[in-house]
Amino acid sequence: MIRVITYGTFDLLHYGHINLLKRAKEMGDYLIVGLSTDEFNKIKGKECYFTYEERKKLIEAIRYVDLVIPEESWEQKVKDIKELKIDILVMGDDWKGKFDYLKKYCKVIYLPRTPEISTTQIKRNLGLMK
Ligand code: CTP
Repeated sequence: MIRVITYGTFDLLHYGHINLLKRAKEMGDYLIVGLSTDEFNKIKGKECYFTYEERKKLIEAIRYVDLVIPEESWEQKVKDIKELKIDILVMGDDWKGKFDYLKKYCKVIYLPRTPEISTTQIKRNLGLMK
């Protein structure tokens, strides 16, 4: 049983998110998503359209996802990897190199992002952001 984890905000769910989650699940048997809470998003400088509970319901409904846990801090990853017996951490390559320090606890894999789509781009296209 290979256990995979990924982290993110996943606001205004789009096909770039689905592609990432599908490929993450294909790397193992059980996929956990650490979903950024509204409080943690503030620390990251992100403002969400959907609340944590709304985003959680959407992510839980995706067939590739087995479990959603809250991501509340940058520091929790080591604890999560140990407690949840994680084999692989998967992130989009916008995070390339940022989580290499976790390589002593599990495999760390950066997957290429799906081009030309992001939550920020959707908001811009709808005139919700500059
Ligand atoms: N992701 C991806 N391809 C995209 C957009 C996102 O693979 N086109 C991945 C990210 O690399 C990350 C996960 O999906 O691993 C969650 O990304 P998130 O930052 O929540 O989504 P974005 O659309 O990038 O949002 P924003 O524009 O607010 O940064």
